[in-house]
Amino acid sequence: MSSALLPRTPSLSGDDIAAKREEIRAYFHATFDRYEQLFEVLTSAAAYYEKPIPLRHPLIFYFGHTATFFVNKLLLAGLLQARIEPRFESMFAVGVDEMSWDDLDAANYDWPSVDAVRAYRRQVRAAVDGVIATMPLSLPIEWDASVWVILMGIEHERIHLETSSVLIRQHALKHVRPHPAWEPWRESGAAPLNGLVDIPAGEVSLGKIDSSYGWDNEYGSHSAPVPAFQAGRHLVSNQEFLEFVQAGGYADEAWWDAEGRAWKGYAQAAHPTFWIAADDGWRLRLMLEEVPMPWNWPVEVNCLEASAFCAWKAAQTGLPVRLPSEDEWVRLYEHADLAEVSDASPANANLHLDHAASPCPVDTFRHGELYDVVGNVWQWTQTPIYPFDGFRVHPLYDDFTTPTFDGRHNLFKGGSWISSGNESRKSARYAFRRHFFQHAGFRYVVGEPVVSNETPVHSSHYETDKLLSEYAEFHYGGTHFDVENFPKALADLAIRIMGKRPARTALDLGCAAGRSSFELARHFERVTGIDFSARFIGLGVQMAEQGRLRYTFAEEGELVSYHERSLADLGLAQTRGKVAFFQGDACNLKPNFTGYDLILAANLIDRLYSPAKFLDSVHERLNPGGLLLIATPCTWLEEHTPRAEWVGGFKRDGENFTTLDGLKARLGAHFRLVEGPLDVPFVLRETKRKFQHTLSEVTVWERLG
Ligand SMILES: [Fe+2]
Repeated sequence: MSSALLPRTPSLSGDDIAAKREEIRAYFHATFDRYEQLFEVLTSAAAYYEKPIPLRHPLIFYFGHTATFFVNKLLLAGLLQARIEPRFESMFAVGVDEMSWDDLDAANYDWPSVDAVRAYRRQVRAAVDGVIATMPLSLPIEWDASVWVILMGIEHERIHLETSSVLIRQHALKHVRPHPAWEPWRESGAAPLNGLVDIPAGEVSLGKIDSSYGWDNEYGSHSAPVPAFQAGRHLVSNQEFLEFVQAGGYADEAWWDAEGRAWKGYAQAAHPTFWIAADDGWRLRLMLEEVPMPWNWPVEVNCLEASAFCAWKAAQTGLPVRLPSEDEWVRLYEHADLAEVSDASPANANLHLDHAASPCPVDTFRHGELYDVVGNVWQWTQTPIYPFDGFRVHPLYDDFTTPTFDGRHNLFKGGSWISSGNESRKSARYAFRRHFFQHAGFRYVVGEPVVSNETPVHSSHYETDKLLSEYAEFHYGGTHFDVENFPKALADLAIRIMGKRPARTALDLGCAAGRSSFELARHFERVTGIDFSARFIGLGVQMAEQGRLRYTFAEEGELVSYHERSLADLGLAQTRGKVAFFQGDACNLKPNFTGYDLILAANLIDRLYSPAKFLDSVHERLNPGGLLLIATPCTWLEEHTPRAEWVGGFKRDGENFTTLDGLKARLGAHFRLVEGPLDVPFVLRETKRKFQHTLSEVTVWERLG
């Protein structure tokens, strides 16, 4: 391994601003370099384009994705003024891990060459470097500071360094080659006998307080007493897990819960996924090679396999063997008296790429009475990720965590050999679906069942985020002060003006929670709803999939009320199958969104970073004779739209220049104004006693033939 340590995630505090700027710059470049070095293990162009596993994108996507992420977030934060390569940035924006409903039809992707993506990465590197050199910086760094976005981009790349290494491990051997920067551990032997360590009862307090970058799910607070329990001294080794395999553990349904049985049937699993049954015995697939089974390394399994092992072990021993909870893992950390990885010396753990590019024997790194409390491989817990009290979504990455608050994503703790930066910290909280493979294994504990102190599963069935609840109510809730439901009123207006025009497809751009999309589907054969916020779309998707939506909303103070709305109650049950939702950027839409008979842009243009990009090209997506309906409250704000990009709302040549003037100027070449301007009111309910009453200015434009 190289002797230089991969830089640690910077402290947010300090007193030397120039030095901090330089530290962040070095952290950025080291991360960008290490990520590119990972792709050097691929043997050919084909290795970039063939998918390692069917449910994920090919590696070329991940090669571009971490660069595009910087561009997208810097644009959103107003730190970049223009896209660098719009076509790439629409292709590389959304990963499969982030958006399970994003379409994965390979036909939609015309991937660029590896060299082109490499050149693109160079451009992005220079742009980010430029931002770091000039951005405002003050200490300590707060989560709404410009530099937070840079740290977010770097930590995001650290995550993909790890998840891409898993995909490479799942790639066919012919696509990879050994590499001096990715040398695995070379020692292996017989596993030590595992034993149990007593962990006394104690109180834990979770919630990030240390001074380094954190993801939204780490903040807030959670405290709980943890009764005494016992924990395995070692992670479960390949050798210890072999007993379960040889006992027929995979074939015996008794050890698996319903989800485990369903996965096992689908995957036809008979042993851990990286094990290979060879003529001369078991072998193990590492990232870049196959080796004879290292019996004293930790076994790597998904959460369902780990749970099945525990159920089997409990039956063998008569003890309540199970996976630990997140709180119990924190007790292990504190019992072992561990500290964060130091800046200057290699970790006392197989962590942060400080030692090798693979797991190592489970008795290598001792932490008090235990081994591998951090590092080597991640450790599954039985705890589905949930929000701490006081959880807030970060506005620049609103779908990082919230889609995982569904009871189906379990936390794992401690990090693996390649976990670095934020991933290596005590406060890190990463969660994956229980059937996913990462560099993850487990340690079992013996203790009474944990009463679910943390995650009432039903909590995720009610949308409790304040903004989402307001929008759910705005779209699907009651009316106030006799003002008609706004998304429905706009759809009704559009349908009336459409008259006898062709009505095959409509695009609802800035669809938010999706009500207009369903309303339009009463008239159109198919409707596409697109919004920049994946969380808003989540509401529409839930409505389309389940026909109903549940949410709470604020009455007064901490009091909330619970609501359920259904498409059937709104007379929209028959529209469910006609609507599809996608995440997208109205200023940079994928080319396949075209050929519409109607485009509805409701309260959209004054939220775009570049409304001109949208207005100047929207005609290309409409059929001749098709209609464009624009509704805007004309609330131009620098936080959404740089002043130079405003469509109107300022003096020009000494005279008032309104949004309507701007629309006429922008759209005149391709459209004729056929209706409006009209004032269409809407009321947004904030609490039982506080409402916003706004007039949106509506114009309808017909595309010239
Ligand atoms: Fe990502």
